Amino acid sequence: MVILLIIGGSASQKLAANVAKELGDCLCPIETKKFPDGERYLRVKGKIDKEAVIIQSTGYPQDENLIELLFLIKTLKDLGVERLKVVIPYFGYGRQEKRFKNGESISAQIIANIIEDAGADEVISVNLHEDSVRDFFNIPTKNISAMGAIADYIDSISTDPIIIAPDKGALGFAEDIAKIIDCSCTYMNKVRLGPDKVETKIADIRCDFSEDDPELVNLNKNEKKVDIRSVKGKEAIIIDDIIATGGTIVNAIGILKEQGAESVSVCCVHPILVNDAVLKIYAAGAKSIAGTDSLKSEVSCISIAKVIADAIK
Ligand code: R5P
Repeated sequence: MVILLIIGGSASQKLAANVAKELGDCLCPIETKKFPDGERYLRVKGKIDKEAVIIQSTGYPQDENLIELLFLIKTLKDLGVERLKVVIPYFGYGRQEKRFKNGESISAQIIANIIEDAGADEVISVNLHEDSVRDFFNIPTKNISAMGAIADYIDSISTDPIIIAPDKGALGFAEDIAKIIDCSCTYMNKVRLGPDKVETKIADIRCDFSEDDPELVNLNKNEKKVDIRSVKGKEAIIIDDIIATGGTIVNAIGILKEQGAESVSVCCVHPILVNDAVLKIYAAGAKSIAGTDSLKSEVSCISIAKVIADAIK
């Protein structure tokens, strides 16, 4: 059996250690520091082989973590690694995957290009905000899902859950989890009014089946999806890919409380948690908040080490 060398960047060291444990592979020590002027230093200290895996999220501080990732890729290739997999559990800048206004940088594309140019042979990320980010790469790229790990967690905290997508973009996640743990799900409609302001409304989910209305038939193909009124007396569990300012979750909690949910817990893949997001979500009435360890945070209690290990194999 070939033993892989796993290198954890500063943003993902514990996760890298857990992935190495899952795979029975070696963890390669690195040294990183900042010079007094703020510039970064990196030294790979382990014995280098032909194959290696870097694990480094590029969340806050995004630019520093990205520079470290580029240093790692380039250095490992210079030192003779021939097959380099790059795992970026949280892909920073992934939300700007198109030009929303004239003249904007397509940041996700620029980042993809420089990671590939630095020498990555394969990229693995977790629940990219838009799957289309994969198209910016010309090398094999996987977008793996944390929903299995999150479903296991939900199963462990709730006996009677209903899974809630706080916007239509998260409905696929809610449906995936509802299928895994065999429960219902529903979603809300959200409009973003600004970087930290969203408006959320109840979605019109019609539950009566009608052969005469194709849209209605289509809506009811998935029997897991139910009307928001079904949350009454249930343990509502919100799922989203990202919690940033917390505005999306705070609005969703308000609606779920109005609809009579017995409790509201919150799960996400990437807990970015800007400023006082955790406080705002608890103040809105959340029973608990859980995120994966794609990013280090005070709520990162769901490990995706096994999901990543399976994707690396
Ligand atoms: C948006 O489409 C994402 O899925 C999240 O809902 C969003 O990034 C959350 O942002 P915030 O926590 O700032 O409302």
